[in-house]
Amino acid sequence: MFLLLCQRLHGPMMRRHWLLVGACGWVLLILMFVSKFINFSFRMPDDYGGRPVLLNWTSPAIKTVNPLNPLLQNAASQPSAASSGGPTQEELSDWESVMAQRLQLSSSVCRNSSLWNLTHTPLRKFVLDRIFVCDKHKILFCQTPKVGNTQWKKVLIVLNGKFSKVEDIPENVVHHHDTNGLPRLSSMSDSEITERLNTYFKFFIVRDPFERLISAFKDKFLENPRFEPWYKQNIAPAIIRKYRKNQRNSSGSAGLHFEDFVRYLGDKPGRKHLDRQFGEHVIHWLTYTELCAPCDISYDVIGHHETLEQDAPFILKSAGIEDLVSYPSIPKGITRYNRTKVEHYFSGISKRDIRRLYACYQGDFNLFGYQRPDFLLD
Ligand SMILES: *[C@@H]1O[C@H](CO)[C@@H](O)[C@H](O)[C@H]1NC(C)=O
Ligand SMILES: *[C@@H]1O[C@H](CO)[C@@H](O)[C@H](O)[C@H]1NC(C)=O
Ligand SMILES: *[C@@H]1O[C@H](CO)[C@@H](O)[C@H](O)[C@H]1NC(C)=O
Ligand SMILES: *[C@@H]1O[C@H](CO)[C@@H](O)[C@H](O)[C@H]1NC(C)=O
Ligand SMILES: *[C@@H]1O[C@H](CO)[C@@H](O)[C@H](O)[C@H]1NC(C)=O
Ligand SMILES: *[C@@H]1O[C@H](CO)[C@@H](O)[C@H](O)[C@H]1NC(C)=O
Repeated sequence: MFLLLCQRLHGPMMRRHWLLVGACGWVLLILMFVSKFINFSFRMPDDYGGRPVLLNWTSPAIKTVNPLNPLLQNAASQPSAASSGGPTQEELSDWESVMAQRLQLSSSVCRNSSLWNLTHTPLRKFVLDRIFVCDKHKILFCQTPKVGNTQWKKVLIVLNGKFSKVEDIPENVVHHHDTNGLPRLSSMSDSEITERLNTYFKFFIVRDPFERLISAFKDKFLENPRFEPWYKQNIAPAIIRKYRKNQRNSSGSAGLHFEDFVRYLGDKPGRKHLDRQFGEHVIHWLTYTELCAPCDISYDVIGHHETLEQDAPFILKSAGIEDLVSYPSIPKGITRYNRTKVEHYFSGISKRDIRRLYACYQGDFNLFGYQRPDFLLD
């Protein structure tokens, strides 16, 4: 890549040949030096169904080169895209129309929002708490659990400069917002918030609402999270007490059943009191609408977990950081919608309970173009 760059540079300017050779030498040296320090390689323990995945965030560091024209930039960014099997420039621009359609759909559903009670103005502090700020690159990222947030947060932390590489960030610091150098929008003044909302690149990621709930259930209540005893010790018993059908049976059977969880989630008015007790923990099953207010904030990109292979490079490019980080290769098939899994989890749960659940998440299904799961509801 760098050799190519050098050839391109001195081709048309033979007279300054030696000067350029010298300059390219320097650039190469600097790049070799820099790349030693920018070797993002880390594990993402919780975002892909608990299967730990070794990921690579390698930076080509071409920011320092300051390419002379867009052609050069394309040539320079190609290798990283090719090596990760990522999309080409053409595919990226095709993807632009897919992304535009998503925004169009959500804004037209929002306009119908009286149907779904989707808006909540003014923006509540709760939503501002979900949004992370990268001032250096003018990016706002709304956190939605279970769609690979940890990586995005790590990237922003590195871009913000608190840590120089992703692997330096201790796991417990990623989500510790006093020390990770990744401020929340809620920590800023009203005018700072407004300015950022109006001018920054804004994005968040969603996935099929029911798959997301299954993923949250698995992660929080089945695979005992080492650092989060709360879910099994406090939340599960409270949900069981209120929502398990056969109470006599409840003490004997271990843990929360997905059926209990579905009944709890589908009881929107009735669960308010419990949700207050659960506090922040409810972010794992609140709707995307409640988390990120997509009808009140005009996001630039809505990523879909199911198409992360295309969406991640698109987001990096749109945010203007594609030269600084590249998205790690995503294990094949891991982001795909799995109907078998959904059927498995919902089997044995009454249609009435599933319909009530769907009613609560219908806004998310409609806003982001996810198909109504007829096979569960009819
Ligand atoms: C980059 O990270 C990988 C995996 O941790 C390691 O094997 C490799 O030696 C590192 N390369 C450099 C240049 O630090
Ligand atoms: C990480 O990237 C390095 C080179 O950039 C490569 O040699 C290595 O195989 C990659 N590791 C994984 C797990 O993808
Ligand atoms: C908006 O509501 C109208 C009337 O209920 C309906 O016909 C239309 O399909 C809705 N549009 C969207 C995008 O949901
Ligand atoms: C919308 O909100 C109003 C009052 O907050 C409530 O009465 C109505 O039932 C809600 N509609 C839906 C579809 O949730
Ligand atoms: C407990 O409930 C399960 C289903 O949830 C049922 O299969 C089992 O027979 C019940 N056991 C008793 C002792 O009632
Ligand atoms: C879908 O989920 C089922 C049940 O959890 C699992 O056995 C299967 O391997 C999954 N399929 C894919 C393609 O991941």
